[in-house]
Amino acid sequence: MVEAIYKPGLEGVIAGETTIAAVEQTSLSYRGYNIADLAENTTFEEVAHLLLYGDLPTSKQLSQLQTTLAQVRPLPQEVIQVLRKIPTDVPMMDVLRSTLSFAGHFDPVKGDAPDDLRRRAVWLMAVSAGVVAARFRLLKNREPLDPKPGLSHAAQLLYQAIGEEPDETATRLLDLTLILYAEHEYNASTFATRIVASTMSDMVSAIVAGVGTLKGPLHGGANEAAMNMLAQFDSADAASKWIREAFEKKHKVMGFGHRVYKNGDHRAHILEDELRTLAEQKGQTKWMEIYDAIKDPMVNEKKIYPNVDYPCGLTYYLLGLPIDMYTPLFVCSRVTGWCAHFIEQAMNNRLIRPLSRYTGPAERKVAPIAQRV
Ligand code: CMC
Repeated sequence: MVEAIYKPGLEGVIAGETTIAAVEQTSLSYRGYNIADLAENTTFEEVAHLLLYGDLPTSKQLSQLQTTLAQVRPLPQEVIQVLRKIPTDVPMMDVLRSTLSFAGHFDPVKGDAPDDLRRRAVWLMAVSAGVVAARFRLLKNREPLDPKPGLSHAAQLLYQAIGEEPDETATRLLDLTLILYAEHEYNASTFATRIVASTMSDMVSAIVAGVGTLKGPLHGGANEAAMNMLAQFDSADAASKWIREAFEKKHKVMGFGHRVYKNGDHRAHILEDELRTLAEQKGQTKWMEIYDAIKDPMVNEKKIYPNVDYPCGLTYYLLGLPIDMYTPLFVCSRVTGWCAHFIEQAMNNRLIRPLSRYTGPAERKVAPIAQRV
């Protein structure tokens, strides 16, 4: 019997092997490709193919993936009916969780062979984006839109939400965030999906578990939490005053810190450069002053660095997207990583079942109910 080890939060524990991504202090790679290289030279659809099929696509493979996405994009009417019935004040992450589960009853892919699972993953990519866009429109009292042929996944999502083809900057920036968010090895939501896979349950159940796990502000919910924090300031001075109080009161600052990266998150560096350019282009440099008024003391005094959610929140904000949509957009990307991990776990499975250390009462006897106090 192996001697049991205990690490709160599984910190520093290797909980399994993967060929999908490597998160290191000095680099992040998806299947051997550095994230900066992918961010500069690929699209989200190519990254989805890389994660799901193990390699970047050839032109033919990319066009097959795009064709499949186009085929499965239209949401079943039943899913749209459900979206209409969910009260308008329900957070979009909850809507997405319930609707993905419901959409699972209309899964067009049959079977559980590796290629079936990959096609189901592509269908889940389409459904998650379709649900986010349709919900966005219904909340604005507009009808969901049919997909428009020929658009990239990022442009399609924005088009189906907003009703106009997005400009090049918006398309490229959403595409970039989808690439950066797509995969991050054994983070909490991915681990949750692997646990579901390890019981030989189904992919939709695993993705629903992933959505529920990502929602929390210590994980994917941080992009919304970070923007809600920034949105309360009307000047850099107000932000500076707030961060001093946060230090005094030892408050957590959302969008900062990471369990693995202790010297900064590679994804945040990539996105922050783009965010600065976007703010200049939009004449919104005030937001960068507020952004820096929080960031500089966190980095210089606390040595706690922004994670990807910090620049991402403000990027989406400057693109005019509602804050409630930010973590759902994270889902639209991470669904690819979750599915890749589901497939990897299912193909080489061992039930994930750790131990716990019991710290409750010592053994005691059941008293008859009338004698209990
Ligand atoms: N604000 C203030 N202090 C912090 C923060 C923060 N965001 N993050 C870490 N610290 C402090 C923490 O209080 C602790 O201080 P001390 O040693 O004095 O008690 C020290 O840094 C070590 O932190 P930790 O809590 O042991 O680190 P962890 O590995 O358990 O936590 C984390 C990682 C991501 C949960 C944490 O940094 C955090 O809560 N950040 C804010 C939420 C957030 O931005 N989450 C997104 C994570 S990355 C992308 C994603 O998954 O979406």
